[in-house]
Amino acid sequence: MEAIMRNLFLTMAKSQTANRLAKRYGLRFGAQRFVAGESIKHAVKTTQQLNDQGLKVTLDHLGESVYTRDEAAQATADCIQTLDVVKEANLDMYLSIKLTQLGLDIDENLCYDHARKIVSRAAENGYFVRIDMEDYAHNATTFRLFHKLHAEFPNQIGLAIQACLHKSKQDLAELGKKGVNVRLVKGAYKESSEVAFPDKTDVDKQFIDLLEQHLTSGSFTAIATHDETVIHHIKQFIEKQDIPKERYEFQMLYGIRTQLQLNLVKEGYPVRVYVPFGTDWYAYFMRRLAERPANVSFVLRSMFKK
Ligand code: FDA
Repeated sequence: MEAIMRNLFLTMAKSQTANRLAKRYGLRFGAQRFVAGESIKHAVKTTQQLNDQGLKVTLDHLGESVYTRDEAAQATADCIQTLDVVKEANLDMYLSIKLTQLGLDIDENLCYDHARKIVSRAAENGYFVRIDMEDYAHNATTFRLFHKLHAEFPNQIGLAIQACLHKSKQDLAELGKKGVNVRLVKGAYKESSEVAFPDKTDVDKQFIDLLEQHLTSGSFTAIATHDETVIHHIKQFIEKQDIPKERYEFQMLYGIRTQLQLNLVKEGYPVRVYVPFGTDWYAYFMRRLAERPANVSFVLRSMFKK
């Protein structure tokens, strides 16, 4: 049943019509639990609150699967505005971006120009940019553009790698040799068994292997998970291997396992929260429901609340 619900939400995440309606009608159905708000003002306020609790932040100006040049240019301008506003407010954060938001499905060169503008502004303002990894259909192009940007801005840009994919072990080995700052995640998209492990146990196993591989590569590792078993294992691994705090951080999503985030801070671990904001919340929200179909209960509650 859980697998059916997961597939249903991941299929719903791709609906352009539902996405358009969601944008028009605003944050609904309990999405506020996972999304900081619709405007940059909300993002700044949330970032400030999290920073005050000792949590670092990565901001995601929500958006993906953009198919018009105007929308891609607007998304680029929004990301640049975000970098300017947070600098003005002197906040501790970095930016996460999705290449399909910047026009990857329209024209690879256009997307590169947009991403380059964002990373240049981040470099000027002293911020770091992480490229989120989207579905497998965009994996090769994401790598291509990442390598181009990384060659020019080696200290300003990092990438997310998904443990669910068979190819990730090899990809990570190459990124480790280049000293790339990597965020490791389990993977949030529906993929075919030709390219990804269908069984969650295999994903969890590869996730631990990849975390250990990158942590010992000498490069920076963002351990992005809410899985307490993995977190417990990695804490012991870090201690045993004597990995310094400058070379890793835990990362979690806004609205998920909040107490665990604070507990890690209390124990002295570096923790960063991924904070999405904006009107394009629908697909992100569907993926959060897919990860934990039990979340549907609070969607239902929010629908019947007056
Ligand atoms: P797992 O799914 O096993 O969950 C472990 C526990 O965490 C659950 O038992 C539950 O308690 C809690 N939990 C997890 N998800 C929940 C939810 N939605 N609601 C409530 N509780 C939940 N993916 C991707 O493909 N590309 C990317 O770029 C990113 N980026 C990214 C950044 C950051 C900071 C994080 C934390 C995650 C991502 N992801 C991602 C998503 C990632 O791939 C994965 O889908 C989720 O993190 C859920 O997997 P866990 O590792 O938490 O484990």
